[in-house]
Amino acid sequence: MIVAIDGPAGAGKSTVARKLAERLGFSYLDTGAMYRALTWLAMREALPLAEGDAIGELARRHPVVFDEAGRVFIDNCDVSSAIRQSRIDRMVPVVARHHEVREVMRERQRELGHQGNVVIEGRDIGTVVAPDAEVKIYLHADPGIRAARRQAERPDIGPDALATDLRTRDASDRVRMQPAEDAELIDTTDLEVDDVVSRIEELIRTRSLAKS
Ligand code: DC
Repeated sequence: MIVAIDGPAGAGKSTVARKLAERLGFSYLDTGAMYRALTWLAMREALPLAEGDAIGELARRHPVVFDEAGRVFIDNCDVSSAIRQSRIDRMVPVVARHHEVREVMRERQRELGHQGNVVIEGRDIGTVVAPDAEVKIYLHADPGIRAARRQAERPDIGPDALATDLRTRDASDRVRMQPAEDAELIDTTDLEVDDVVSRIEELIRTRSLAKS
């Protein structure tokens, strides 16, 4: 079974998806981490981020790898912490925009996502990567709350700059941020993580019962 969790930055995707996977005993795939790792590598190589063919080629040569503990590797480097810096937040939409990059990433995501039961989080999972996912969730939240949540994870940037970055990233990601028609929309503004996870578990139960 594939559970697709999409939505903008700060809506709670990672926390919810990770916890849900843990409760269900599913594996977990963070597709944003893949775009982040590629951005990290392209910056290390000082490649021009605006050139889709060069970055696409880099993606093809260096597939992102996850280990059992959820650590993220590219070109044999553990980039799990480095990809959470605000300099990566700022540049990742430039990389994620290229169709050459998305083609490589989607192919790899489908490969990783079709190995048993999995929770996949991203922006285009329910619409493009796994349109056949049995359960599709779209998380969203008030922009102020999303910025505050992100701030807690980004001690390297002030609140004004972070809010501006988030707005810029939303604008750039928007084309890929539409909920699938058959997605369940959940507003997480006033919800605790456990409430969101329980709601999704309930949905999965209902869907599974309806099928059997
Ligand atoms: O979810 P995140 O903040 O880690 O995602 C990082 C960036 O990657 C974000 O700006 C949008 C992009 N992304 C994407 O375009 N498609 C995905 N499936 C996942 C992330």
